[in-house]
Amino acid sequence: MLFSKAESLEEIWQAVKHELHRGALEVKHPFHWVNLGTVSGDFPSVRTVVLRKVSEELHFFVYTDYRSKKCSDLKNNSYAALHFYHPKKQVQIRIKAKSKLHFRDELAKELWKKIPNHRRSEYTGAHAPGTPISNSLDGSTERDLENHFFTVLKLEPLEIDVLQLRKEGHLRVLFAKDKDWEGTWLMP
Ligand SMILES: Cc1cc2nc3c(=O)[nH]c(=O)nc-3n(C[C@H](O)[C@H](O)[C@H](O)COP(=O)(O)O)c2cc1C
Repeated sequence: MLFSKAESLEEIWQAVKHELHRGALEVKHPFHWVNLGTVSGDFPSVRTVVLRKVSEELHFFVYTDYRSKKCSDLKNNSYAALHFYHPKKQVQIRIKAKSKLHFRDELAKELWKKIPNHRRSEYTGAHAPGTPISNSLDGSTERDLENHFFTVLKLEPLEIDVLQLRKEGHLRVLFAKDKDWEGTWLMP
């Protein structure tokens, strides 16, 4: 359990933030992977990505390829959803966020330097992610490590909805940026 009803809303907020920071730092933490939802034309679209960093201001950072569908979705509509679930603690966190794409700017250049060579091919494919290819090998040809599409997605949360499952009754709290992150209990 991440929190119980004995804790104050402030204590719950601190516990939620702490767990999100752990997710970015610990590769085996269930929050190290996050489901990222975008508005994609008539359909919502969701995919798993790695949570690379959570900053002190609670900005979430994800790495991707500029040519991917998620980037074109976010260029059309910068609102995104993040979804986390911790099976042991039985806690779900759903976040509404505003995104910013960092491509070939200072932040992207700085972080690109820290990507080890053997991981760089993830952002240098000859074809855009999702392009149909004639066979499985086609995807690994024609790599040019200098000409990359490495992009940093920065996601700034607007609302954080936390659901704690409990045998004695579930608990749900909404934290909103426009209320200075003060929590509100919700019916689960
Ligand atoms: C465990 C896991 C981690 C992943 N991490 C990333 C990631 O950090 N960045 C990324 O762009 N895609 C990642 N992917 C691939 C995406 O889920 C997705 O298939 C891909 O980015 C194309 O998505 P799009 O077409 O919606 O843009 C990951 C997939 C899995 C299964």
